[in-house]
Amino acid sequence: MSFDRSIKISPSILSADFANLGAEIEAIEAQGCDWVHVDVMDGHYVPNISIGPGVCQAIRKHIKTVMDVHLMIAPVDPYLEAFAAAGSDIITIHAEAGPHLDRSLQLIRSLGCKAGVSLNPSTPPEHIEYVLDRIDLVLVMSVNPGFGGQSFIASQVEKVRKLRKMIGKRNIHIEVDGGITPETAPLVAAAGADVLVAGSAVFKGGSVQNPERYGENIRAIRDAAMQAVTAG
Ligand code: DX5
Ligand code: ZN
Repeated sequence: MSFDRSIKISPSILSADFANLGAEIEAIEAQGCDWVHVDVMDGHYVPNISIGPGVCQAIRKHIKTVMDVHLMIAPVDPYLEAFAAAGSDIITIHAEAGPHLDRSLQLIRSLGCKAGVSLNPSTPPEHIEYVLDRIDLVLVMSVNPGFGGQSFIASQVEKVRKLRKMIGKRNIHIEVDGGITPETAPLVAAAGADVLVAGSAVFKGGSVQNPERYGENIRAIRDAAMQAVTAG
């Protein structure tokens, strides 16, 4: 994975048909997504349960782009090895998912994966100030984690701006997750985000039988974001 700051769309498969994940992933990739965002929830750190390392491993062979794994689980350390072995390219953990963030990040990189930290809406950007050299990505949650289909929390735009400044010349992606649509994507892209996660806004109206709709949805988000970057 080489680093670049062009706008990337990472559809969250939380909004896909869980009975047909392999075909859903192949459809979104054929329709032009850049990464595939995989939401892992434990019913403890967040109030919902989704999938675990076994499903990640099963879908890995359908992913040609980047397997972008977002772990909403605590404690997270005991499971990092399993998610790395499942084929994750990027493993993102929540800032509050364990007692020693710096150690967890070192472990992710030692397992051969890119390391990300996710900040909840109430978590300040300064939380990652002293681990910046240990991360490849920061994930700004623009909803409270746990469910797809929630409304974008506008206060997070300012956080993205602060993080972009804090990151300086480092090769660190800023990913935004939650309530991303063609209306909200320009706000975060203009503030400095380069990876946009979208579940509902990518999968709505489409299906494996009607994948062109996925392509239209992906393009609508990407075009809106790119226009904002160019205008800035
Ligand atoms: C929320 C997840 C998101 C979510 C995004 O906890 O991390 O990835 O599925 O869904 P939308 O785009 O519908 O807000
Ligand atoms: Zn996510």
